[in-house]
Amino acid sequence: VINIKATQPVAPIQPTMWGVFFEDINMGADGGIYAELVKNRSFEFAKPWMGWKIERKKAEEGDIIIQNRHGNTVNPRYISVKANNISKGELGITNEGFKGMGIKKGLRYDFSVLYRHQTGSVKLHLELIDSKGSIIGETTLNPTGNGHSWKKEAISFNATETEAKGKFRIWFEGNGEIDLDMISLFPEDTWKKRPGGMRADMIQLLADMKPGFIRFPGGCIVEGIDLANRYQWKKTLGPVEERQLIINRWNLEFAHRPAPDYFQTFGLGFFEYFQLAEDIGAEPLPILNCGMACQFNTAEVVPVNELDSYVQDALDLIEFANAEPNTKWGKVRADMGHPAPFDLKFLGIGNENWGPQYVERLKVFTKAIKAKYPKIKLVNSSGTDPNGDRFDYLNKELREMNADIIDEHYYRTPDWFLKNAGRYDSYDRNGSKVFAGEYAAQSDKTVSVKNVNNWKCALSEAAFMTGLERNAQVVNMASYAPLFAHAEGWQWTPDMIWVDNLRSYGTPNYYVQKLYSTNKGTHVLNTSENGKPLTGQGDLYASGILDKATNEVILKVANISDKEQIREVNLEGIKKFDAKAKLIVLKNNNPEALNTFENATNVSPVEETITLNPKKKISLTLAPNSF
Ligand code: AHR
Repeated sequence: VINIKATQPVAPIQPTMWGVFFEDINMGADGGIYAELVKNRSFEFAKPWMGWKIERKKAEEGDIIIQNRHGNTVNPRYISVKANNISKGELGITNEGFKGMGIKKGLRYDFSVLYRHQTGSVKLHLELIDSKGSIIGETTLNPTGNGHSWKKEAISFNATETEAKGKFRIWFEGNGEIDLDMISLFPEDTWKKRPGGMRADMIQLLADMKPGFIRFPGGCIVEGIDLANRYQWKKTLGPVEERQLIINRWNLEFAHRPAPDYFQTFGLGFFEYFQLAEDIGAEPLPILNCGMACQFNTAEVVPVNELDSYVQDALDLIEFANAEPNTKWGKVRADMGHPAPFDLKFLGIGNENWGPQYVERLKVFTKAIKAKYPKIKLVNSSGTDPNGDRFDYLNKELREMNADIIDEHYYRTPDWFLKNAGRYDSYDRNGSKVFAGEYAAQSDKTVSVKNVNNWKCALSEAAFMTGLERNAQVVNMASYAPLFAHAEGWQWTPDMIWVDNLRSYGTPNYYVQKLYSTNKGTHVLNTSENGKPLTGQGDLYASGILDKATNEVILKVANISDKEQIREVNLEGIKKFDAKAKLIVLKNNNPEALNTFENATNVSPVEETITLNPKKKISLTLAPNSF
């Protein structure tokens, strides 16, 4: 008998309990949710022609060159095209996109460019081309401006076919010299149809989860390969041509998946992340660099007495998010189109920064932020050690500092997740809260290219998460990581959502997360069998909660056995309940089962309404390997 003390809530469940962790890894942003189709649109990648090919039918030295303008330090490069009485098809440039371009038949594509005519007049013939080289959409832009100042011009056209591996070509025609920069192409069907916006199918998958928070922008990219390449939120605001790109932390990392052309162009920056959080009803949770570069790269640190600008960045971010438009940073937000504050409540300082150097720096940040913004809850970084006590020192220090929230990460085996379902049972109920900020069961081992998102891993996470939920008094936030991966451009597996240029699907792990976040309830209920919480006895893991808003009792049960199990459920204290209940089951007989592009819902929830006899006991049949 699973006994639920249904009328005696034990602890509240925070609305932030189940969230998402976003990082620009695995082409998560550029080539991912950022819907720009042109790779290296401003020629600022390490090699200016990365992503581009010059098409010359009539070779002429110097007809297209890269120029580097003085005085523009954020976007110095552009191209100069010298057209010497050329016709369409003689001189052009082709962009390969991010692993190709996903093009959809009938959809409108919006082209824009910054240009200036140095002499004469040059036309731009724009073509979408399929993988065989056929034209599947075209138009002509006749830039009319002349003179030496840069102008922006835009034109739209429709695609005539669907193609997953499209390219984009520009042929030049005329006689003269034209300079081009920020060559951009977006589909019309972005999230909320915002020009220059995000890929709608990917964002919809997030919105469907109704996440309690969204953490951004990472992960290791917060830290950067070195401090010069750390994530600096102020450089991600304003017009996109003024946002200075940097090398992505995941560019050359892990030799087995090198990605030398992986840059962060910041078309997607902090304003857009805050807006996304608002769109999907999630609390924004930005994480800032604490003065330390990635521990797996250079591990550079800023001297403690030189942290001022880093700390100021944190204070200014709170002003950017929360202050009225009559303040310096509130105005920046308002000028970008959001006069109302974003109501930031949480801020992370440091990601996976460990050791005494972190504590020293964190103390400086905490003092300054708490003095000015005492209500902001700070997320501090910690770790978990499967083999010892490596993080005991840090956890002790953080707790002595009365840390608001401590961020623990675990990429471990399914077995670890099952054995640790009781991890938080012994944590101090009154001390610092926990953010299970990055976790995922690994089918092979941590940082292995062989990891897959199989049902065994997802089920072990579902079982473990009953323990997070049961301990909601301690655990206030949790998120699976990483979130997105492009099937042809990933550095890390497993990942929650997989995409290619046209398609996206949720893994079994996605459905586990979604079941939790769409059934998050408001209060923990004491749930037990034979007087003990279900943490694996009889291969069952369970957590019962109450949703005070809907008056529902929600029971989550993971049956990790390959046998069906039957339990009676006793809603202790409830005299009368509805005859109708909802049963949502995620299951598969094969622990190795996967979702794929072709079979995207192989492991996905099946929902039915069941009729209960309020006079009789509730009997629950738990399928083998099911949640
Ligand atoms: O999620 C992938 C990486 O794992 C994150 O960037 C980092 O925080 C962790 O090491």
